[in-house]
Amino acid sequence: MNQRIPPSGLEIIPETAPFSHEQRSWLNGFFAGLVSLDNAVTPLSPEQGAAVMKGAEDTDDGEAPWHDQTLPIAERMKLAEGRPLRRRMMAAMAQQDCGQCGYNCHDYSEAIASKTETRLNLCVPGGKDTARMLKVLHEELESTSASLSPTVKEVTVDPAAKVIGESGRTRDNPVEATFLSRRLLNKPGSEKETWYIEFDLSGPGLDYVVGDSFGVFAANDLGLVDQIIALLGASHEAKVNGKKLRDVLHEDVSLSPAPDALFELISFITGGAAREKARALASGDDPDGDAAHLDVMATLQKFTGVRLHPEAFIEALEPLQPRLYSISSSHNATPGRLSLTVDTVRYTIGKRKRIGVASTFLAERINPGDRLKVYVQKAHGFGLPQDPKTPVIMVGPGTGVAPFRAFLHDRRATGAPGRNWLFFGHQRSECDFFYADEFNAMKASGHLTRLSLAWSRDREEKFYVQDRMREVGRELWSWLAEGAHVYVCGDAKRMAKDVERALVDIAAQFGARSTDEAVAFVADLKKKGRYQQDVY
Ligand SMILES: Cc1cc2nc3c(=O)[nH]c(=O)nc-3n(C[C@H](O)[C@H](O)[C@H](O)COP(=O)(O)OP(=O)(O)OC[C@H]3O[C@@H](n4cnc5c(N)ncnc54)[C@H](O)[C@@H]3O)c2cc1C
Ligand SMILES: NC(=O)c1ccc[n+]([C@@H]2O[C@H](COP(=O)([O-])OP(=O)(O)OC[C@H]3O[C@@H](n4cnc5c(N)ncnc54)[C@H](OP(=O)(O)O)[C@@H]3O)[C@@H](O)[C@H]2O)c1
Repeated sequence: MNQRIPPSGLEIIPETAPFSHEQRSWLNGFFAGLVSLDNAVTPLSPEQGAAVMKGAEDTDDGEAPWHDQTLPIAERMKLAEGRPLRRRMMAAMAQQDCGQCGYNCHDYSEAIASKTETRLNLCVPGGKDTARMLKVLHEELESTSASLSPTVKEVTVDPAAKVIGESGRTRDNPVEATFLSRRLLNKPGSEKETWYIEFDLSGPGLDYVVGDSFGVFAANDLGLVDQIIALLGASHEAKVNGKKLRDVLHEDVSLSPAPDALFELISFITGGAAREKARALASGDDPDGDAAHLDVMATLQKFTGVRLHPEAFIEALEPLQPRLYSISSSHNATPGRLSLTVDTVRYTIGKRKRIGVASTFLAERINPGDRLKVYVQKAHGFGLPQDPKTPVIMVGPGTGVAPFRAFLHDRRATGAPGRNWLFFGHQRSECDFFYADEFNAMKASGHLTRLSLAWSRDREEKFYVQDRMREVGRELWSWLAEGAHVYVCGDAKRMAKDVERALVDIAAQFGARSTDEAVAFVADLKKKGRYQQDVY
């Protein structure tokens, strides 16, 4: 709709009229247009509008020094100070480019800033801190666009017109796949519970490329759902928007962590100290030092006695998000099949055992033959080299090995002649050597040129993949000198950074470079797509 706002000073709707500021300014514009068409502003084309919108805030140099997943949000926001709003929005995100939101960090911030994306709660690794910061920045965006020329507003896109993408290729357009089987990858004695999970994709006819991830829509644990219904004092049969409350809690909403809106709701309907606490929690404070562990159930237990209406309660919760897993198989090797390597999340807070939603869903709540909603998330710059002759060095401790199993299967299926070197590490050689038979057979056949292992708990002192890399630094350097591509997958917070540091040290020591030159060398590898990461 062309929105006309009168030249400043022309007020047709009085300030005392029962409208919000936005409504009043819209109505003022609408009537001004009717009263005097001479006053109407000639609308800009969408391209002109976009240029004005960009120009209004574009003093940016394009660099993103905050794009480092190990920096805390406060530091990232500091680095982004004075930058345009869309860049500060990017800094608010967790910088993992993990794709869970359906974008990378840069594109998600662009989508919010251009208003093609209205959801501010999609950054899973950023959690509540990111969602809160995005809310603040979004309010700034709203007030900035309210004060911009009316014609500029025309460039904003109706979110309803958002392209939802090809079937099975985005989180907004999933398809149904069939769960086939699971097999425990750890042997007795392990402290871990990691599953090899297999799906049949032949129904939806979905394919994928190695390096892609798989999005899974899981359901909450019904035991937890029933405890929450009991705490609400509601009936299982209660309906919310025409659907049973139990089904909504099972399938549609996240039960952890408790969103600010739930604390706000509680603060509205309670009084005294409880109200103050709920208010404080809603604004990000931590009055009792337990905020980090307040999931939905713990919140209901904390504010016991507060009677929440089921509809208002559901309204206050966040939608249940899909989870991403690195694909462990190759479509070229096993068409129609897809596998994952999933570590089960279980931990205890106080006396209560807590579980990760999707990992335990895959580990114990879905049965062979069951169907579930899924999609393939295309990798953002994580995949085998174009030239099949290029050597690859793969560093994947723990579940980080997932995409490298896929790489190896793919290169074998396509007859790629390039050399393959895998660094795998985990806690104990006896019980945590995933895919040992496969990798040993690939080594024996020569397909896996080198297999370097690092066990962190076999001995007293820790020994990690990067320690192994340093040990064989000279050979690693010679692979790099011959054009090898390096891949890292797994833990984003510590491992990825430590592995990168090891590579810098290797470049310095064996490439006869100063530390600065070695850092620049690794940065250049990244720029050229020769150092790729899939970290989470
Ligand atoms: C691109 C990508 C690829 C991935 N690939 C894989 C993969 O190949 N394999 C794999 O296993 N995972 C992978 N993940 C992680 C995966 O997406 C999920 O995050 C993971 O399975 C946990 O999801 P969940 O639903 O089970 O747990 P959630 O319900 O999301 O719970 C996890 C949350 O529980 C809390 N938590 C966990 N442990 C503790 C603790 N000890 N103390 C306190 N709080 C705790 C944390 O807040 C954590 O964020 C990948 C993620 C991305 C983004
Ligand atoms: N978002 C989630 O809820 C979620 C769920 C699953 C996994 N993850 C992330 O994914 C990672 C992978 O989990 P995982 O179960 O596959 O294995 P993991 O816990 O990362 O452990 C794999 C191996 O890496 C070692 N390791 C620990 N710190 C390291 C470091 N700084 N550098 C190199 N190696 C290091 C571990 O040793 P030690 O343990 O003996 O020190 C272990 O031997 C987790 O660390 C976690 O960050 C997140």
